[in-house]
Amino acid sequence: MTDTLTAPLARTQVTLRHLTGPEDLDQLLIVRLLERAARFESGGTDPDRLRGRLLATIFYEPSTRTRFSFEAAMHRLGGQVLSAESARTTSSAAKGESLEDAIRVVSAYADSIVLRHPEVGSAARAARVAQVPVISAGDGPGHHPTQALLDLYTIKKELGRLDHLRIGLAGDLRHGRTARSLAVLLARFEGNELVLIAPPALRMGEDVLHSVRAQLPLQEATDLADVAPTLDVLYQTRIQAERFESAEEYERYRGVYVVDAELMRRLPEHAILMHPLPRAGEIDPPVDADPRAAYFRQARNALWVRMAVLDWAMAG
Ligand code: CP
Repeated sequence: MTDTLTAPLARTQVTLRHLTGPEDLDQLLIVRLLERAARFESGGTDPDRLRGRLLATIFYEPSTRTRFSFEAAMHRLGGQVLSAESARTTSSAAKGESLEDAIRVVSAYADSIVLRHPEVGSAARAARVAQVPVISAGDGPGHHPTQALLDLYTIKKELGRLDHLRIGLAGDLRHGRTARSLAVLLARFEGNELVLIAPPALRMGEDVLHSVRAQLPLQEATDLADVAPTLDVLYQTRIQAERFESAEEYERYRGVYVVDAELMRRLPEHAILMHPLPRAGEIDPPVDADPRAAYFRQARNALWVRMAVLDWAMAG
């Protein structure tokens, strides 16, 4: 007979499928998740695979795409969702509860947790105390692994491959967690070259540079127009106003790179323009009509990729 008092302890004995950073994603797992996402997109997989399962989404920072796509993915898989969408003020964090205690408690209610939190390393901390899989939805300026997965899915769909590409990551690479995670995942595939385009003060952190330098050729640049003609993918990012010490410092960099019609003329015909969104002035809206502008298709791909991630984490 099952002793219900020991059941939670027994759950800790199994290896949980956490996804807290790009280090959890080796090439084989990436390929398998992208294949699974493609099956969901083509309608080739049972849409009710997570019926009876409950997902908790806990967001201590704002989100549109990540939260809605995870929640839509869970509903489309037949599951249900508990959501704290302004957890900083509407959960007991406002009374001083630690992240660890919140995760221990929510673990007892849900079958998986999707967490967005402003502190680097918060998803890994949550995974250490959780009794269910923890999936990072972004840990401050740290990483955003499922965004990087959907970025790879988009590149594969748009250009047909994930290797032997020259990819430019542009903008606020110091605080931009999506670009940081994407750099790490692109380095898992043969023959890729990275061009990191940022003002010196917004260069990508040494932690990521160190890990990718050994695996692929890396060029750092400050002039976007100069390198645009050499790229297969231009991944434009937002200057992250919320991460700067002061509004004055942010103003120094706002508008440093703007993709407009002139810049698009310099981008090769076969290339694509991506952006994790939201944008805040760094892509001129008329560019949306250019067939190479892939960012809304990219946002749509979040659904299939997050269905695949939830399915992997909970159904196996
Ligand atoms: N790309 C992304 O993470 O968007 P949200 O902040 O809207 O979730």
